[in-house]
Amino acid sequence: MTSRDIRQKYINFFLERKHKEIQPAKLVLDQDPTTLFTSAGMQPLVPFLLGENHPEGKRLVNSQPCFRSQDIEEVGDNRHTTFFEMLGNWSLGDYFKKDQLKWVWQFLTEELKLPKEKLHVSLFEGGDGVNKDQESLEIWSEAGVATSNIHFYNAKKNWWSLSGTPAQMQEGEIGGPDSEIFYEFDFIEHNQKFGEKCHPNCDCGRFLEIGNSVFIQYQKQSDGSLKELPNKNVDFGGGLERLAAVIKDDPDIFNTDLYSPIIRIIEKYSGKNYIDPTAQLNIRIIADHLKAATFLIVSGVTPSNKMQGYVLRRLIRRVAVKMHELRGSVKKEAIPTDAFEAACAYTVLEIYHGLFGIDKAIQKDLVVRTIVEEMEKFGKSLEKGLKEVQKLESIDGKAAFDLYQTFGFPLELTLELVSQKGQTIDKQEFEIEFKKHQDVSRSASAGVFKGGLAGHSDIEIKY
Ligand code: SER
Repeated sequence: MTSRDIRQKYINFFLERKHKEIQPAKLVLDQDPTTLFTSAGMQPLVPFLLGENHPEGKRLVNSQPCFRSQDIEEVGDNRHTTFFEMLGNWSLGDYFKKDQLKWVWQFLTEELKLPKEKLHVSLFEGGDGVNKDQESLEIWSEAGVATSNIHFYNAKKNWWSLSGTPAQMQEGEIGGPDSEIFYEFDFIEHNQKFGEKCHPNCDCGRFLEIGNSVFIQYQKQSDGSLKELPNKNVDFGGGLERLAAVIKDDPDIFNTDLYSPIIRIIEKYSGKNYIDPTAQLNIRIIADHLKAATFLIVSGVTPSNKMQGYVLRRLIRRVAVKMHELRGSVKKEAIPTDAFEAACAYTVLEIYHGLFGIDKAIQKDLVVRTIVEEMEKFGKSLEKGLKEVQKLESIDGKAAFDLYQTFGFPLELTLELVSQKGQTIDKQEFEIEFKKHQDVSRSASAGVFKGGLAGHSDIEIKY
């Protein structure tokens, strides 16, 4: 079953249950003051979850491209990416727990034919004035989930809102208890490094979360309490990449058809093999970042020093560094000389051709040009900058700022390189240097200077 099959099966499954397919939201948000990107399928639906009538009705379904820049540090393992596709279905005050949990179970076990015994579910144990989710426990048991495969957790794990736990929710924000579904790879031995006993939320790799039904029925009040919303809503999100992996009983999402064609290109142009453990992490980072960069460019972002443009710049420059590291020990003759970025970008467009407004023939030039230009701009100073990082005994905020200004190294990149040497940088010192530079430039150019990391602190606040 291909990822296209899974996506279509999911949409069809819910269309057959009287849902309407809605257009996914734009990946890049320009009107939302609180965030830069769409990071969950429910984000554009907040007004409707609050009670407004949706023009398409009360039952909705789609597949939403999402970008989570806050996960950038986690990319490199077998399951985290900044870009992913979230399969979503919603009930806006229509069906609730009983139908939702039954349907998700049917979809996973009958449509995708996942073995029941390998599926585990988690539920909210209660807290913050909200009861233990006994109702969902009964529904899951009736559906056929073994008691030993049903697990209770506190709000840190089984409460969902865009901000997190009830305590972290902002005034007016909506959220609720949730029920996550996990797939168990029974051939992976638990690693005691992650705790004495394994369980669905253990990070040893034996379990992989594949979906989450959120029962959005609360709104945070100014006094800190939770008030019931007029409607009881359902917000389901399932990771397409992860579903495509578990269908093959493979814990590595990079082996799915959503990544493997990109990985083959990276192998060809780096001279390294994906199964080589010394290369795998970098190959995964490059594959994720180039896919995310392609989607950001198609969404209208260009590399810059502000907001979404800065995030795109960070992704592309990190790719340049990782590619440089991969190629380090490989003979030049072993690497094709044509543009690797073009091959990669084209492959990404091919994977999604015909979906989300992607047309490989129309968008290829824009994507390739944008990535190649940014790589070239950075490539000129990359080696010198890396040498400088190696040469310096320790890098303080001022040195990090010099690396940014002279060699174009985003702070986060320098932080990563420095952490490989077991060091860290005082971010505040960097900000002070940055501000000093901004002030000097402002007075020297009477306000002409608007670039630099002007958007940098915005980004830190906003994503
Ligand atoms: N909103 C939930 C999530 O992002 C489920 O869709 O996980």
